Amino acid sequence: MRISAFRKAHFNAAHRLHISNLNDEENARIFGSCSNPLYHGHNYDMEVKVTGEVDPRTGYLIDLKILKDYIKEHVENVFDHKNINLEVEEFMDEKMNPTAENICYVIWKRLRAVLDEKFELTIRLYETPRNYVEYPAS
Ligand code: NI
Repeated sequence: MRISAFRKAHFNAAHRLHISNLNDEENARIFGSCSNPLYHGHNYDMEVKVTGEVDPRTGYLIDLKILKDYIKEHVENVFDHKNINLEVEEFMDEKMNPTAENICYVIWKRLRAVLDEKFELTIRLYETPRNYVEYPAS
């Protein structure tokens, strides 16, 4: 039997959306208030979706305690109460702009690296209750 399990998680973090070879006015035109040079915060919510075959012996798809621990170690400890531009490796030195899209992708990569490859993995990231992204795209 194929099924999906979900785990919700949450972190608060600061960011600034910015393209370094544009001036502040041009950045503000593209990114609006998210380009504030002094940064600002979001309450990020996420849903981690794991899909695969139920183990006939245990009746489990995945032990959700293990998934919870992966999220804690590889996402929450990395992003929670951090300045994403300055403190999260993938975004440091303007390597990547910390949009919801890119943060979602980085979370997927970090969890994909530790999750058993027999599972499919999808990340949904809410930057606000009404604005959210999902990777991989469905
Ligand atoms: Ni923002």
